[in-house]
Amino acid sequence: MSGGTLNWTVAPGGMPSGSVRVPGDKSISHRSVMLGSLADGITEVTGFLDGEDCLCTMKAFQAMGVRIERVTDTSLRVHGVGLHGLKGPAHDLDLGNSGTSMRLMSGLLAAQRFPTTLIGDASLSRRPMRRVIDPLARMGARIDSNDGKAPLRLHPVDGGLTAIDHVSKVASAQVKSCILLAGLYANGTTSVTEPETSRDHTERMLRAFGVEVMSSEGRAAVRGGQRLVGTSIPVPADISSAAFFLLAAAIVPGSDLLLRDVGINPTRTGVIDILRAMGASIGIENPRTFGGEPVADLRVRGQGLRGIAVDPALVASAIDEFPAIFIAAACADGETRVTGAEELRVKESDRIQTMVDGLTALGIEAIGTSDGARIRGGRIGTGQIDSHGDHRVAMSFAMAALRADGPIGILDCANVNTSFPGFARLAATIGVEVSA
Ligand code: S3P
Repeated sequence: MSGGTLNWTVAPGGMPSGSVRVPGDKSISHRSVMLGSLADGITEVTGFLDGEDCLCTMKAFQAMGVRIERVTDTSLRVHGVGLHGLKGPAHDLDLGNSGTSMRLMSGLLAAQRFPTTLIGDASLSRRPMRRVIDPLARMGARIDSNDGKAPLRLHPVDGGLTAIDHVSKVASAQVKSCILLAGLYANGTTSVTEPETSRDHTERMLRAFGVEVMSSEGRAAVRGGQRLVGTSIPVPADISSAAFFLLAAAIVPGSDLLLRDVGINPTRTGVIDILRAMGASIGIENPRTFGGEPVADLRVRGQGLRGIAVDPALVASAIDEFPAIFIAAACADGETRVTGAEELRVKESDRIQTMVDGLTALGIEAIGTSDGARIRGGRIGTGQIDSHGDHRVAMSFAMAALRADGPIGILDCANVNTSFPGFARLAATIGVEVSA
């Protein structure tokens, strides 16, 4: 995977303006390869995210006998092998930094007639997997782990999986999707209920492949044995990558930025609601749909922000955007409080700790709590922060330089390529100068 150390220095100041198209949605790109592989017939994917995480998923399916042509860097032709057409891989499947690959694939691989071993990098090997191992075990899966963590060794099950009704303690699309994908192979209807509705890309994309999925607020269900039919998947720009550019314009009064083709699935738009509650001006223009997913252009104009108590009901729909929201809070007048976000502690890094440490190093008053943080807006100083290999932390602090007194040094940035290849180049087009 990324390996090696890459450190950045980001020059202070700038006034973001212009028009930007960030790369494709990571969640949708992963699912396009997975479902395209399990479908009968060809699936054409455009706007695919050619970041390392999604390439791990692609290579894993290639290792299981799926022919995937890279027509361009961002267009794939997936020659689906059908629900029962995967072949046992000759080696362990290395999923790098990607929690989505590991959790979703453990669901569909638990149902195969061959064994697989899923491995990942140091960060992925620290992340909790019991949240998928336990419900899969209730379905009859046989999974060995390293005390609830990767490597995961999945054994074939005689007689197949049994449908379950799973009640998840966390709102997690990875858990929900894992169980639904296993449910495609189970006899009966498998359902997942969660405390808040997590992103619903799996449900939407299964429907695009012709599968009937029942869903309502906080619940989704699928009947096993349904066939997937190859289709076309146009991938919207990733709102989680757009978030760094929303942040950039929102924290610099006078800036004016257009973000094109951004996915605005309502299970993902918490960052827009939270930044607006802080006083940001974000317009939604030209709304349309891309293969069952709502898309629009977002226009952000910079003006003063104020601190808020973030509504905990918005946490699930903004879960990946808190590093950016923490920087917005550092640039706002007054205090911002985040609660109900304990999941941030088990992301690619402990995002509460990593962000609080970084903000503190730059002279911002920030206190971490078990489920969030309190951040008082202030002057961002010059200094160095450690991203701990967390892509979203690195990109958030890069944008913070727009409001800093001097350069910001950011350690351990190679993993930005997991979700946002070309970030530094695109940031330069809006006047954020990142040098390695
Ligand atoms: C994702 C779900 C979220 C998110 C991750 C992508 C997905 O994880 O943080 O970046 O594609 O299903 P959780 O399910 O752990 O909340």
